[in-house]
Amino acid sequence: MKPSSLSSAPARPSHGGNLAWAAALAGCSPTEILDFSASINPLGAPASVWQTLQASLADLRHYPDPSYLTLRQALSQYHDLPIEWILPGNGSAELLTWVSRELAALPQVFLPTPAFGDYFRALKAFNATIVPQLLPDLGKPILPPLAAPGCQNSAKPQAGCLINNPHNPTGCLFPIDTLRPLLDRFALVVVDEAFMDFLSPTDQQSLVTAVVDYPNLVILRSLTKFYSLPGLRLGYAIAHPDRLQRWQSWRDPWSVNSLAAAAAIACIQDHRFQQITWNWLPPARSQLFDGIAGFEPLQPYAGQANFLLVRCQTAVSQLQQDLLMRHRVLIRDCLSFPELGETYFRVAVRTETENQRLLDGLADVF
Ligand SMILES: Cc1ncc(COP(=O)(O)O)c(C=O)c1O
Repeated sequence: MKPSSLSSAPARPSHGGNLAWAAALAGCSPTEILDFSASINPLGAPASVWQTLQASLADLRHYPDPSYLTLRQALSQYHDLPIEWILPGNGSAELLTWVSRELAALPQVFLPTPAFGDYFRALKAFNATIVPQLLPDLGKPILPPLAAPGCQNSAKPQAGCLINNPHNPTGCLFPIDTLRPLLDRFALVVVDEAFMDFLSPTDQQSLVTAVVDYPNLVILRSLTKFYSLPGLRLGYAIAHPDRLQRWQSWRDPWSVNSLAAAAAIACIQDHRFQQITWNWLPPARSQLFDGIAGFEPLQPYAGQANFLLVRCQTAVSQLQQDLLMRHRVLIRDCLSFPELGETYFRVAVRTETENQRLLDGLADVF
């Protein structure tokens, strides 16, 4: 039987960041491992968030406000959208579950692949009919046609689609112009923008501003990656108020805890941290890209997010194990993406010194 995440022994992870598994394999403490497997901002969490968390501890004595008014006001200001169009969630993963319930009610859900594994978890939970659509070129931001024969010409759109922009695991950023036509072709378009914050405002290709014109559009955003708070669970959806009210009626009234709600406000108001991250990423990503490209067996793909997908001439499991045992460096194998299989890995972009530690490890292993 496949070990589930509830079994007691650490199982091979299907998500990045499973340090318990890596530490058990390497025979060391999780704190000794430099984690390139989870695509989390290495500069965070922001100091302003730690201060807010400290100051908010007393709030734990009360239930959170189920309408999350203060948080939604802050998010509404941040996106310049009316407050009714925003719903916070326990990570974007929670909101993915609710949107999957709606996607599953449609006859088909088109999904560009390789795709983030949690999409399958959420869609399968509601018995959705998933139609995987292979990306035509992993290295280029080109969407697959996203339509079964005849579907494109249908007078009334029936199917749904779930897109991730920038895309995990390739890092491709799909231009807005390639996404907009989907809004007329699909009954429900979900764009998971979990990594969009990593692009500076002038480089982002977000569909957030289209939401008010398209009731069939849902945007999912995550605060856990950019602000380095994956354990706190913070995300939000931007969509038509009727849809969000429906989700609110389905879920438990307090899915976002008080500390997460307070931290989220501090996050989005920390413009200094945002700017520092935008300054850090492009040169650090180039350093990592160039360093990896320098190894003959490795071919990195030029992504726009805070991680790089890399193709290896041989199976990655030995490389992953060598890096872990000899250098305490964890990379993300891509075994959980069936379309990629054993010759790909993904690495987060970290600080220049940390990136160098990975490059030194690779030099040693090769
Ligand atoms: C593409 C994508 N979307 C969503 C998530 C979930 O993010 P959150 O921590 O907000 O639930 C992840 C996490 O790895 C992800 O890779």
